[in-house]
Amino acid sequence: REEPLVLGIETSCDETGIGIVRGRTLLSNTIASSMDEHARFGGVVPEVAARAHLEALQPAIEAALAESGVALADLDAVAVTSGPGLAGALMVGVGAAKALAVALGTPLYAVNHLVGHIAADLLDADAEPLEYPTVALLVSGGHTSLLLVRDLTSDVELLGETVDDAAGEAFDKVARILGLPYPGGPEIDRAAASGDPRAIRFPRGLSRASDMDRHRYDFSFSGLKTAVARWIEHQEAAGEPVPVADVAASFREAVVDVLVTKALDACVRHGVPRLLLGGGVIANRRLREVALERADAAGVAVRIPPLSLCTDNGSMIAALAAELIRAGRQPSTLAFGADSTLPV
Ligand code: KG4
Ligand code: ZN
Repeated sequence: REEPLVLGIETSCDETGIGIVRGRTLLSNTIASSMDEHARFGGVVPEVAARAHLEALQPAIEAALAESGVALADLDAVAVTSGPGLAGALMVGVGAAKALAVALGTPLYAVNHLVGHIAADLLDADAEPLEYPTVALLVSGGHTSLLLVRDLTSDVELLGETVDDAAGEAFDKVARILGLPYPGGPEIDRAAASGDPRAIRFPRGLSRASDMDRHRYDFSFSGLKTAVARWIEHQEAAGEPVPVADVAASFREAVVDVLVTKALDACVRHGVPRLLLGGGVIANRRLREVALERADAAGVAVRIPPLSLCTDNGSMIAALAAELIRAGRQPSTLAFGADSTLPV
């Protein structure tokens, strides 16, 4: 029997992603981003993102069909992110997916965005098949989550997540403090290249012994952001120049250190020798470097899918639905909504 042909719709944040897959084969990965519209606000504005999705969806679907040579009538299923994410943004994708599924008479699969990030790995044609169990660290502008994946379609456990800002959000906020443009992640990465990561010792959130009972696998970045702001204030009050490269490198080191330490701790404590990375912050050079180095020392194999699959996209949503179909799971009824805090 042929693998299912699935169109996936992703609108949980600022990327309008349309993906078309046949089983685990990627046919098209079309992304329209409203990032530029948010730049002057220094972060994603929910209302702006929702309106941008409404305008971008139809052209993105047309582009994905044209790129893959697939006709709408050939689709076996439609998939959509129903959460977590920005409520208004999610609603645009959910509405469009329902309309498409009804018009085509195809099954519709409502899927979880975080689990979708894990499914992105399946589309990496150059990689060996994903083995279970695996620990997954997902870091983007919207989330910072550590998950234990025993089975992609039926057993994904959230070990921990950020209790305040997402890691990408912290990069964006600290970049703003340093006077660097949005999005701040790539800017800080660049500025940090010539800085000393040990110049300033910034705090590692939720890493004290007393945090280990309740927050062993949780993250906190708002204290770090405040620490950077305070340090700069002191510097300026003393009439000293702000060493941007050193601040960027030291801040980046604090984020990377805590992300990698907690992810590998989860691997070791659960006896899982595999770590999958995902989300837009994976573009960070130091994060990849430290993760690979320390994982190697801990006997953990790291998987990093291509960046185009790590950032928000519709193909990971389609890929997850294709797995659900493969596992014999029934489609969703049409009576689902958008759930901004949808659990895994
Ligand atoms: O996954 P993504 O493209 O979109 C969502 O947040 O959903 O991630 C974007 C985030 C932004 O916060 C951006 O600053 C951050 O990822 N980012 C980086 C780097 N490139 C992008 N953070 C650190 N280092 C980078 N090189
Ligand atoms: Zn995401």
